[in-house]
Amino acid sequence: MNKVSPSVMCINTMELKEKITALDKANVDLYHIDVMDGHFVPNFCLNGYIMKDIAAISKTPMDVHLMVTNPTEYIEYFAECGAAYITMHLETLVHPIRALKKIRGLGVKAGIAINPSTGIDRLAYMLDDIDMVCIMTVEPGFAGQTLIPATIDKITAVRKMFTDAGKDVEIMVDGQVKETTAPKLVAAGANILVVGTSGLFNAFSPEEYPKVIQFYQNLV
Ligand code: DX5
Ligand code: ZN
Repeated sequence: MNKVSPSVMCINTMELKEKITALDKANVDLYHIDVMDGHFVPNFCLNGYIMKDIAAISKTPMDVHLMVTNPTEYIEYFAECGAAYITMHLETLVHPIRALKKIRGLGVKAGIAINPSTGIDRLAYMLDDIDMVCIMTVEPGFAGQTLIPATIDKITAVRKMFTDAGKDVEIMVDGQVKETTAPKLVAAGANILVVGTSGLFNAFSPEEYPKVIQFYQNLV
């Protein structure tokens, strides 16, 4: 079974409570919380306050995607806000192994995100410290973009890197994951699907969520 993580930045904040309730009824596995600093990416987005508001009405775990230049400064903060996963961009880390160990030390799953043009070779030196790799299928910072096809092979390469080393890892894909792209992404080795505008909120009504979430969860 794949995990489905709706991207909360794609929900109209005026409808947040109603949408979270409908998504919980559809048994989503995670909520994807995009955090942006206007520096690593040219945009701003969600924060710890929204996480606490969601945690007050839902038991569904949250995965926090830190699109910020200094993610290590905010590990404790987002752990306190209830993050089940904290994912940092490899492009922002000088000492990734130390940062991953810090996240795990707080009982939170440790994730590394890589941009479309970032290679995977550095991951080979931290296989024991990574719980999840987030492969960005679009340039980070905005919802509603078009998937970059060259990123699909990267999913297979990362899955092979860990499998060849006898290691387990979760692979998240983030960016235009939708009905027509998700099958290819899962076939390539992804198992956590972040669904935002085209994959969920702009394409389906809350009444349709159970069916479409099941579709994504059951892809092989
Ligand atoms: C983009 C974010 C994604 C985005 C996905 O920087 O990391 O989570 O919200 O939105 P869609 O699915 O519309 O590409
Ligand atoms: Zn994201």
